[in-house]
Amino acid sequence: MSFLSETLARVKPSPTMAITGLVGELKAQGRDIIGLSAGEPDFDTPENIRAAGIRAIEDGKTRYTAIDGIPELKQAICAKFKRDNGLEYNPKQVTVGTGGKQVLYNALMATLNHDDEVVIPAPYWVSYPDMVLLAGGVPVFIEAGLDNNFKITPEQLDAAITRNTKWVLFNSPSNPTGAGYSRDELKALTDVLLKHPHVWVLSDDMYEHLAYDGFEFCTPAQVEPKLYDRTLTVNGVSKAYAMTGWRIGYAAGPEPLIAAIRKVQSQSTSNPCSISQWAAVEALNGPQDFLAPHNEIFKRRRDLVLDRLNAIDGITCPTPEGAFYVYPSIAGLIGKTTAKGVEISNDEVFVTELLNDTGVAAVFGAAFGLSPNFRISYATSDAALEEACDRIAKFCSELT
Ligand SMILES: Cc1ncc(COP(=O)(O)O)c(C=O)c1O
Repeated sequence: MSFLSETLARVKPSPTMAITGLVGELKAQGRDIIGLSAGEPDFDTPENIRAAGIRAIEDGKTRYTAIDGIPELKQAICAKFKRDNGLEYNPKQVTVGTGGKQVLYNALMATLNHDDEVVIPAPYWVSYPDMVLLAGGVPVFIEAGLDNNFKITPEQLDAAITRNTKWVLFNSPSNPTGAGYSRDELKALTDVLLKHPHVWVLSDDMYEHLAYDGFEFCTPAQVEPKLYDRTLTVNGVSKAYAMTGWRIGYAAGPEPLIAAIRKVQSQSTSNPCSISQWAAVEALNGPQDFLAPHNEIFKRRRDLVLDRLNAIDGITCPTPEGAFYVYPSIAGLIGKTTAKGVEISNDEVFVTELLNDTGVAAVFGAAFGLSPNFRISYATSDAALEEACDRIAKFCSELT
């Protein structure tokens, strides 16, 4: 009998974190590596937010707090939902965790029973299916292909829902594609959900503030108020405020669900870091004026990468609405052979050979549930992106 649990055998470690770890090791060995695999902004946390963290330490705010967040942060979160999304919540409808990741995990742990299904559009953020499996549920995938700009259709959503469906997961703008649903596109999907009153909505809005070309961000509970009572809206400070290491995420939804999430957290990690919570209060309540200049930089980098990749024979990439990822298709390269004689039989071979031959680290599409593609995070310097694109173009031009 195995010492490790059967549940653990059903899940795999996060491939994005594994590749980011490998990049660190190769760099430490002195290899010339350009890491395009990490999902985090390369900006520093803004100064006022850092100062709030330091102040919290100096003021002795270093003890346990309420399990799912200090009142000041819950108030700031309520104000944020009202300001940005037109959604009214009271603090009892809000939970704060150690990153959006923990909040999503808690929500699934708190609600899933054996055989409960969670509908997940693919490509998806790598952790969704494994979190569902850890919680004992069944992930059900809908393919959001290149032909529809990596978005699902209402017909696909309707067809995926069964009596066992508990949640439908939305993530717009998306990791890994950057695709964002317009208000009309989202409304067409929420209309489907009105026909299925047993299905709840888990909206992961982590990339809300990272949107370009005037894209108007919307979230399901805002687009269809009739879904308010069965929606958990998840967000966090990691991406917009360059606070990935501080580990603060949050969600708002119906009070009984929030209480259930609190129960899971109370018996696992208790409160998220007290210092980070005070920094997050400043992030949400303080000036938001650095968001626009950050987005200008991200948009410039997105366009740089798109222009360069789309100029490569065999690579196709639509223009994403947001986040800081592109998810090019390499359908035109499958079956070709590298200068070293390796056949590119799938996207995992492609990224492995790309890393071996050129030092450019990306993540293969199979990790996100849609192939043949690869994900590039463009949250790095223009110079690194230019150099990476040069290397990718050379690698591809040498394929025969
Ligand atoms: C789509 C998506 N959701 C949630 C998260 C979790 O973010 P955090 O735990 O840092 O709040 C990430 C992080 O990469 C993400 O890409």
